Amino acid sequence: MSQSPPAGFQLPAEVIEKVASLRSRYPSEEALLLPALHLAQKAAGGWLSHDVIAAVADLLGLPASKVAGVVSFYDMFHEQPVGRHRVRLCTNLSCQLRGADELAALLRRELGVDAGEVTPDGRCSWVEFECLGSCDTAPMAMIDEDYHENLTPDRLLQTVRRLD
Ligand code: FES
Repeated sequence: MSQSPPAGFQLPAEVIEKVASLRSRYPSEEALLLPALHLAQKAAGGWLSHDVIAAVADLLGLPASKVAGVVSFYDMFHEQPVGRHRVRLCTNLSCQLRGADELAALLRRELGVDAGEVTPDGRCSWVEFECLGSCDTAPMAMIDEDYHENLTPDRLLQTVRRLD
């Protein structure tokens, strides 16, 4: 199951040291923010709670609101718990016309959780997503870092069942 960072989360020493070691390679604290958030997210169990955001802001001397704005802008950062595997199912027009609703229903049934939720064992989470730029191969989903195109329910089912 995804672990929630404790309230008043403290960044691990190795994250603080790594950020310090990167500092000379970036021209400003703002520029250092993205790698710092990546490190923090990994250390915090895959997502960035308010407490983790506050810890990163404190480390870099930036306003928490600014850090929160960056987190919400980039979809590589997660503001809610996620599974070890993340499925992004495109439900925009081209994919919807070619069966995305059926694929969403399949994910709901197979994983036993709704969009935005994590399976009880922490294995998988899924979300509906806006266009992922692969409309000519609709319907499609991004699973972890890979595109799965021209999906059929059977292919999606087999792929999801292979996620460990
Ligand atoms: S509409 Fe699904 S990838 Fe563009």
